[in-house]
Amino acid sequence: MTAQIINGKEIAAKKRLEIAEEVVNLKNRGVTPGLAVILVGNNHASRTYVTNKEKACKELGMNSLLIEMPEEVSEEELLAKIAELNETQDIHGILVQLPLPKHIDEKKVIESISPLKDVDGFHPINIGRMMTGQNAFLPCTPYGIMVLLEETGISIPGKHVVVVGRSNIVGKPVGQLFLNQDATVTYCHSKTKDLPLHTNQADILVAAVGIPNFIKAEHVKNGAVVIDVGINRNEAGKLCGDVAFEEVAEKAGFITPVPKGVGPMTITMLMYNTVKSAAESLVRN
Ligand code: GUN
Repeated sequence: MTAQIINGKEIAAKKRLEIAEEVVNLKNRGVTPGLAVILVGNNHASRTYVTNKEKACKELGMNSLLIEMPEEVSEEELLAKIAELNETQDIHGILVQLPLPKHIDEKKVIESISPLKDVDGFHPINIGRMMTGQNAFLPCTPYGIMVLLEETGISIPGKHVVVVGRSNIVGKPVGQLFLNQDATVTYCHSKTKDLPLHTNQADILVAAVGIPNFIKAEHVKNGAVVIDVGINRNEAGKLCGDVAFEEVAEKAGFITPVPKGVGPMTITMLMYNTVKSAAESLVRN
């Protein structure tokens, strides 16, 4: 079998058109969705992500506010800025780009963001709401994966989903979203014994480990759906995923490439969450 490629770039573009329409609706009702992004320090990758988020806001007709703070900023100053943004009416989403410098407590920072503006979906209140199937901001990469599958017409109830990786940002929540849609979910991680035994059971295999080309053909069942969340550089400096694309594509039924797979969906769902927040603020006020 040669896998069908799930084109994340195309699906993201389609979703962004829908989001842009909703932005127009909200503007007609007097609200322009606004996202504040806080960047601490000068991490190169973080700066690239933040620039892309600002660009996406502008393209969709939304407001974006970039707040840059120096590496040495105190936790207190950062918390004070977040407290101010929590109270700012025309800011509907607050995102603090991670990772933060070591002297700042990431958990404390995440918990200081109002759950009503937590468009990353990282606040424990949103995580709890997601786990119990209530209205919540869903974390952007996991949510983007669910949209990719929906748009590709892949049914989830009853499927065996195997998630490799258990980060708070991707692995854990994506498994939960699949469970919410009646999948049977297995989590694998660095301490899992006999990884191929588990991954070969997967109808849908999600690779979120951050190791280049970690998932090989031997890990994959014929016809499986393979979702590659990795964004790595190989020895030659070329962008690659967690999945050995060429050999796995020979065996899988569907596969997401890197780049142009999951990646474009993350920012798209961030925009979606910010617009959702703006719409909900209208209902509250
Ligand atoms: N750093 C890497 N990915 C993310 C993300 O999705 N949100 C935030 N806030 N920081 C990140």
